[in-house]
Amino acid sequence: MNRSNIRVLFSAETIAERNKTLVDEIAATKPDRLLVIAVLKGSFVFAADLIRAMDAAGMAPEVEFMSLSSYLEGTVSSGTVRVVHDIESPVTGRDVLLVDDILESGRTLTYAKDLLMARGAKSVRTCVLLEKPGKRAVHLIPDHVGFECPDLFVVGYGMDVAHSWRQLPFVGVIES
Ligand code: IMP
Ligand code: MG
Repeated sequence: MNRSNIRVLFSAETIAERNKTLVDEIAATKPDRLLVIAVLKGSFVFAADLIRAMDAAGMAPEVEFMSLSSYLEGTVSSGTVRVVHDIESPVTGRDVLLVDDILESGRTLTYAKDLLMARGAKSVRTCVLLEKPGKRAVHLIPDHVGFECPDLFVVGYGMDVAHSWRQLPFVGVIES
């Protein structure tokens, strides 16, 4: 696999511009003592850029990380989600923003949202860089979406295929 086989879908500049307007949307919800939770691993680049755009907009979120994994049965996701790494802060009474890379079936984010609400968060909103429409297995409407993504396997900007290509500054699609 060669970098020149990766076609740019969303450029670094396009993403940076959208991050600013996403932060405007988030700021307009007037979160109180905002806790940003990045869902690892795929969201780490997006979350890093988003929190710095928040700083530029005068926001001061706390930031935590959560790692979730879906059990796989063969190649089919069973829909069971497990917490691999949990956050360290209590969420009771907090406004939480869950940040993820792609919303597809919605199982991962729904699991995380339900868990944090059950722990007593005041609100849990969701922010995803990409949304693949028509792929939802559970009902979840994300609060903030960077871009609608075509039904293609994408890499870059934190997203991987077998742990490769996370370093790309853009979101791209592998062409053979
Ligand atoms: P779901 O919404 O629970 O199905 O989970 C979506 C997760 O699947 C994302 O957070 C990614 O980790 C992964 N994923 C889905 N589509 C892609 C893709 O096109 N490229 C890389 N990862 C993907
Ligand atoms: Mg993910």
